[in-house]
Amino acid sequence: MAKPYIHGHHASVLRSHSWRTVENSCPHLIPYLNSPSLKILDVGCGPGTITVDLASRVPNGSVLAIDPSSAVVEKATKYAEEKGVTNARFQVGDIFDWKEIEGVEEGSFDIVHAHQVFQHLQDPLGALKEMKKLTKPGGVIAVRDVDYSAITWYPEIDGMREWLDLYIAVAKGLKCDPNIGRRLHAIAMEAGFPRSDIEASTGTWTFSTPEELEFWCGIWAERTVQSNFKKSSIESGLATEEDLERIVHTWRAFEKKEYGWFALINGQIICHVK
Ligand SMILES: C[S@@+](CC[C@H](N)C(=O)[O-])C[C@H]1O[C@@H](n2cnc3c(N)ncnc32)[C@H](O)[C@@H]1O
Repeated sequence: MAKPYIHGHHASVLRSHSWRTVENSCPHLIPYLNSPSLKILDVGCGPGTITVDLASRVPNGSVLAIDPSSAVVEKATKYAEEKGVTNARFQVGDIFDWKEIEGVEEGSFDIVHAHQVFQHLQDPLGALKEMKKLTKPGGVIAVRDVDYSAITWYPEIDGMREWLDLYIAVAKGLKCDPNIGRRLHAIAMEAGFPRSDIEASTGTWTFSTPEELEFWCGIWAERTVQSNFKKSSIESGLATEEDLERIVHTWRAFEKKEYGWFALINGQIICHVK
C-alpha cells in the first residue's frame, strides 16, 4: 500500500517537507500536546522535522516515527541527532504492516499522527482503521492533508492551471485522492468514529513574499522534472517532456511576480478514541 509515492524522495521534495513544523503543519494537534510524557506515533514521517518538533514538546515522552523509505528514515535520524533530540526514534515501516515494527502494539500510543500521508494512499480508510487500533482509549488521532482542487493563486498566469490539472490527473491515475483534505472527517466516520468524536478544521499555507515564492516555486520547478512526478506523468501518457518543460517555465515566471500569492487549504481532523 505504501507504493507508488507520487513525489518520491528527490531533494526538491525533501526540501519542501523540511520546512515543516508543528506550528505550521499540525496546529490542530497543539491543544492535545498537553503533557510532557505523551507517547506519539508519527506515520509517514518523511524527513522528520515535524517529528523532531513533536518530540521536543514531550521531553519526558517519546515519538516513534515510521516511513517505508529507508532513505528518508536515515535523513530524519541524522536531523534528530543534529538537533540533539534523543526521544524520537525513526524506523522503516508501513502503517499496514505495523505488526512487523518493534515497539508498535495495539492501544499503545496517546497520539497517532499523519501529515500529508493519506493523499498518497490507495486505501486511506484502511490506514485510519490501523491507526485507530494503535491509539490508547482516551487518546487522539490527528490527520491533515491538502485539497489540491482548492488551491488558489494570484495572478492567473498561463500554465498554472495546466500544472494543477496534470497533478490531479497523475494522482488519480495512481488511485490516490489529491482532494482528500475535504473528506477526512467522512473517512473517519466510515472508520467507525461517531461524528461527535471527530473535530474537523482547516489550516492554510500561504506563499507570497519574494523568499516564500522563491522557496515554493523553486521546489515545484525542480519536482516537475526531477522527481517521481515526471516519471508518472510521462509513463501514464498524461504529459510529454515538452509539457513538463512548459510547466517549469510557468513556476519560474510565477516566482518572479512581485505581487504573487499562492495559497493551499488543508483539511485537518482530530478523532477521539474511546
Ligand atoms: C508528503 S510526505 C509527508 C512527510 C511528513 N509527514 C511531513 O509532512 O513532512 C508522505 C510520506 O508518507 C510516506 N508513506 C507513504 N505510504 C506510507 C505507508 N503506507 N505507511 C507509512 N508511511 C507512508 C512516504 O514515504 C512519505 O515520506
